Amino acid sequence: MKADGRIGILISGRGSNMEALLRAAEEGRIPAVVAVVISNEPDAPGLRKAQERGVETLLLDHRKARDKEEQDRRIVAALEERRVDLVCLAGYMKILTPGLLKAYPGRILNIHPSLLPAFPGLDAQRKALEHGVRYSGATVHLVDAGVDTGPIVLQAVVPVEPEDTPVTLADRILEQEHRIYPEAVRLLLEGRLNVEGRRVRILACRERD
Ligand code: GRF
Repeated sequence: MKADGRIGILISGRGSNMEALLRAAEEGRIPAVVAVVISNEPDAPGLRKAQERGVETLLLDHRKARDKEEQDRRIVAALEERRVDLVCLAGYMKILTPGLLKAYPGRILNIHPSLLPAFPGLDAQRKALEHGVRYSGATVHLVDAGVDTGPIVLQAVVPVEPEDTPVTLADRILEQEHRIYPEAVRLLLEGRLNVEGRRVRILACRERD
């Protein structure tokens, strides 16, 4: 992939991972610009945060599309128009249709607040607490047709403390999310992810050349 990658970020809410990616791009920690932030939710606080940072934002309200396929066609058109080559899901609450997956094969990343494959889907932090695990964490993975099932790129482990609530655990995990998401984006954009089936091998810089 080109060193001067163009990233499209999809959000539905707060957008703190989006901000972590924007900061990393601004500071040159990832070799890319964020070309557009797209939200399916009009009230997503992340939209305003992106605007404040001078990034183009686009509201594509899913309620205004006939069906999921049409919604994703609109998203693909918006991404292609802006020559996006990597899509980052950052708290994006919709499952992608095959149309969107096919438009960006191996070039869609997601961040999830658990050590996948444990606790996929919603409320991962609450599920981790209820299950009684001693450690949870964050996972960046490539997106496939399942829910949080794609090949794992990076993970970070976070201890679960006896007094934790879903909120305190989520906060501890979020710190790690903000660290590993830009890192995973950098590796992908540098062409250093070698995907063999489910396994992602991270190449050293010299292996890639
Ligand atoms: C994060 O915990 C992320 O892992 C999950 O949704 C949450 C989004 O938070 N997919 P934010 O919108 O990035 O602040």
